[in-house]
Amino acid sequence: MRHVRPPRPNAGFAWVDGTILPAARASVPVFDRGFLYGEAFFETLLVRDGRPLLWRPHLKRLHASLAHFAIPRPEHDLGSAAADLLAACRLRDAALRITVTRGTGEGLAAPEGTRPTVVMTLRPLPPGLDENRVLGITAVRLAFGQGLARPAAGHKNVDYLAAIAGRRAAVRDGASDAIFVEADGRVSEATTSNLFMVRRGRLATPPDAAGCLPGVTRDVVLVLARRAGLDVREAPIAAAALDRADEILLTSSIAEVVPVVVLDGRPVGSGRPGPVALRLQELYRAFLARSLAATTPRGRRRPSIPGPHPPSRRGAWRSQARLARGRP
Ligand SMILES: Cc1ncc(COP(=O)(O)O)c(C=O)c1O
Repeated sequence: MRHVRPPRPNAGFAWVDGTILPAARASVPVFDRGFLYGEAFFETLLVRDGRPLLWRPHLKRLHASLAHFAIPRPEHDLGSAAADLLAACRLRDAALRITVTRGTGEGLAAPEGTRPTVVMTLRPLPPGLDENRVLGITAVRLAFGQGLARPAAGHKNVDYLAAIAGRRAAVRDGASDAIFVEADGRVSEATTSNLFMVRRGRLATPPDAAGCLPGVTRDVVLVLARRAGLDVREAPIAAAALDRADEILLTSSIAEVVPVVVLDGRPVGSGRPGPVALRLQELYRAFLARSLAATTPRGRRRPSIPGPHPPSRRGAWRSQARLARGRP
């Protein structure tokens, strides 16, 4: 008889269509269309102190992708599901992944009445996040992109083959991450993050049309940067322009704001995290702290948010509250 080892107590739990069970024992049917055809979309949220951050914008993006690909919205209350999973798991700081597939059934057209499959998992945050933010990381430009005309461009589709190939190429070259260069010679994003470039005090990030994911963190950083008075724009970035960058930054929910200090073996600017990176890291951290204070374990906002502004500054207070609720 095969001996099945019980999962370690903190090996993680999964929520699968309403049932919570140890992740090691969780499964989806072999005919699940996410597994068969990649007909599935997902979100990865940062969990701090047992609370998922920026729930609304993540759910909004997920729902937009489901609608775009004619996948019905799951019937489950995803907020309650996340809260149940967090309560079952001992992880306070974690990555919460929500995956929704078209459901089970073979054939390119989903059988009539197919209901979506929902899977949520919690995993510990990867090691080295703080170190990456403080010291910066090394990256390479890739000889390939993700394809500007691909149907899933701009959607968080589960097909991450380009990212996997990109990350392997980076590691082969002794770097830790990779930047996609699309067929038009412009950069779109990095394997699992959006990209910003700083040149002569101006901050730029590729627009959605560049084939990047409309990142939740990117949106927040754009707002924070504008509010801080930085000259910031969404504009195409030629791959060669990165050679002249004073700073390059990557943003994602889990990594937050990470400076790239070496690109293709050469220092970016001073070869150290630059002033814009440091400022945006500080602003983003403060934003996360406000967001955390305003978030319940269900990812929902609290009825009122304690804020530093007196009533005479109501406009500023309101806009700060919007940001704290995850609405830039
Ligand atoms: C390809 C890609 N781009 C950008 C991002 C950043 O998106 P967000 O800020 O919503 O986490 C991610 C996050 O995983 C990603 O996988």
